[in-house]
Amino acid sequence: MSDDLPRSTYQHINKPHSSSYRPDQAVPNPSILQVHPFIRMSRYTSAHDPVNLNGAGDARPTALQIIKDEGLINKLSGKVFLVTGVSAGIGIETLRALHATGADVYGTVRNLAKGQAVVDRILAEKGESKGKIGLIHMELDSFESVRKGANEFLEQSGGKCNLIIANAGVMATPEGRTKDGWETQFGTNHLGHFLLFQLLKDALLASATAAYPSRFVSVTSTGHRFHSIKFDDYNFAKTPYEAWTAYGQSKTANIYLANAIERHFAARHLHATSVHPGNIMGTGLAQHLQPEVVAAMGLETWEVKRTMKSAEQGAATQVFAAVGEEWRQKGGRYLQECTEEMRKVEGVGLEGGYASWAYDQEAEERLWRESFGMVGLEQPKE
Ligand SMILES: NC(=O)c1ccc[n+]([C@@H]2O[C@H](COP(=O)([O-])OP(=O)(O)OC[C@H]3O[C@@H](n4cnc5c(N)ncnc54)[C@H](OP(=O)(O)O)[C@@H]3O)[C@@H](O)[C@H]2O)c1
Repeated sequence: MSDDLPRSTYQHINKPHSSSYRPDQAVPNPSILQVHPFIRMSRYTSAHDPVNLNGAGDARPTALQIIKDEGLINKLSGKVFLVTGVSAGIGIETLRALHATGADVYGTVRNLAKGQAVVDRILAEKGESKGKIGLIHMELDSFESVRKGANEFLEQSGGKCNLIIANAGVMATPEGRTKDGWETQFGTNHLGHFLLFQLLKDALLASATAAYPSRFVSVTSTGHRFHSIKFDDYNFAKTPYEAWTAYGQSKTANIYLANAIERHFAARHLHATSVHPGNIMGTGLAQHLQPEVVAAMGLETWEVKRTMKSAEQGAATQVFAAVGEEWRQKGGRYLQECTEEMRKVEGVGLEGGYASWAYDQEAEERLWRESFGMVGLEQPKE
């Protein structure tokens, strides 16, 4: 397979898996973790070729490799980046890689001691970065905390912000509510980040130039295919709570936020993408999964394990979207494996590809409008 074919072409390399997941099932079909039946052409195509997958640490790029391949080691001094959720998982590796660019990188954490231990580890590595790392306390399930954190960030960064990566998230949580009364996953994964974006939008726009637009990267998941937006029942008030449906709704919302930001602000040099990072070994995200669910998803089998990434690899696509040259002047698309995902999947099947509802201008705009009310903001004139 040659790497010099045009980008954005893709080929069948085996038959697509059949899909059988229904949102009312308690266990997602393991096909979400199976080998992607299509591949697209990019410089990383061969590393992601299903026949080459060999589990965490295989040839797929790490986030730091992306920075090196883009020629960005210490090249972004003076830029200011913000990443949510840097105390665990792929947030740590995103912070580490962006720090290597020489930019000033701020990370949000809900536990400052845990976050400081991460920062200490990265700084102890004695890389050559000239940038600083700052920590911001922020609980995304509390609007008051998001507001305080956004203010603190603006004070520390002098009002500058070139990039936000909305990375923090929770998955398949037991039924619960945020401090403001929203379903935990929708409230944390979507509303917290929606409010954060609105509070920092002016800084993103003021920091943007035609040559170096600002960016917003929304970390979503193939799990968006579990469910679209429950417009008449965001909070499961009319239907029984189902943890995967709630995760699916929140991850669809992550895609819609990026698509809406692109539509509203691209002309003012602010671009947004959404990213599925891959399925990653050993992060905190799976903490709410019962052992029988892990077994049913095949997570302990080599067939599935060989497709999974390390946290360093899992952070690659969001770093690619955040600072890579390819996405400097455009957005509004869903990425995975360091390239745009090209394959649309009808219905709720969980193989490679995005859901039939992933690009839906009417739904994106409705969520955008209604989210203002949910976070207690007036929708401004743009
Ligand atoms: N791991 C995967 O296989 C996978 C697959 C697809 C998509 N993703 C997406 O990737 C992102 C990162 O996942 P991960 O695997 O790195 O998970 P992780 O290891 O659990 O890290 C999640 C981060 O979010 C923070 N966080 C959780 N709830 C929060 C809250 N209420 N307020 C503020 N911060 C909060 C966590 O803080 P604490 O350290 O305090 O818990 C942590 O820093 C998520 O958006 C997830 O949906 C992951």
